[in-house]
Amino acid sequence: MRITVLNGPNLNLLGSREPEVYGRTTLDQLETMVRAEADELGVSLTWYQTNHEGEFVEAVQALAAAADGALVNAGAFTHTSLAIRDAFLAVQVPFVEVHLSNLFAREPERRHSRLADLAIGVVTGFGPMGYRLGLRALAARLGGG
Ligand code: DQA
Repeated sequence: MRITVLNGPNLNLLGSREPEVYGRTTLDQLETMVRAEADELGVSLTWYQTNHEGEFVEAVQALAAAADGALVNAGAFTHTSLAIRDAFLAVQVPFVEVHLSNLFAREPERRHSRLADLAIGVVTGFGPMGYRLGLRALAARLGGG
C-alpha cells in the first residue's frame, strides 16, 4: 500500500514555529515517527513538504499515479485554497486531513476547511500523534477496515 504525506506551508519550521501551538517536534522528527508507524503497517511512504500552492496542487495531481491514499496537512492552504480542493476533486484519491493544533479552538478563519468534506476524516489537535492516528486510520480504510 502506497501512502503519500503532503505537508503545506510553514510546516518546515516545526520545532521553532509558535511552539506553544505546534510543539517542539521538528518536521524531520515527525517524518521519522511517521515512517516508523508506516513500517509497522507495511505501508510504503512518500513524504513531501512545500511552501508553494502551485507545487502543492502538482503534488496532489501526482497522487493519481503514485499513491493509494494520502495524509494531508495543507497548513494555511486548508482554509483558503480552491485550487487544492479542485485538485483533490480531480484525482479522487482517498485522503485523511490532519492538523497538529485543534482548529476548532483557534481563530474563526481556521475553523473552516476547504478540504474536510472531501476527506475520509479529519484528525485535529493531537500534535504529532495525529499523523500516526491518521496514517493508521487511512491504512485501515484502504485495507478494507
Ligand atoms: C495547521 C493549522 C493551520 O491553520 C495553520 O495554518 C498551519 C498548521 C496545523 O497543523 O495545526 O500551518 O494545519
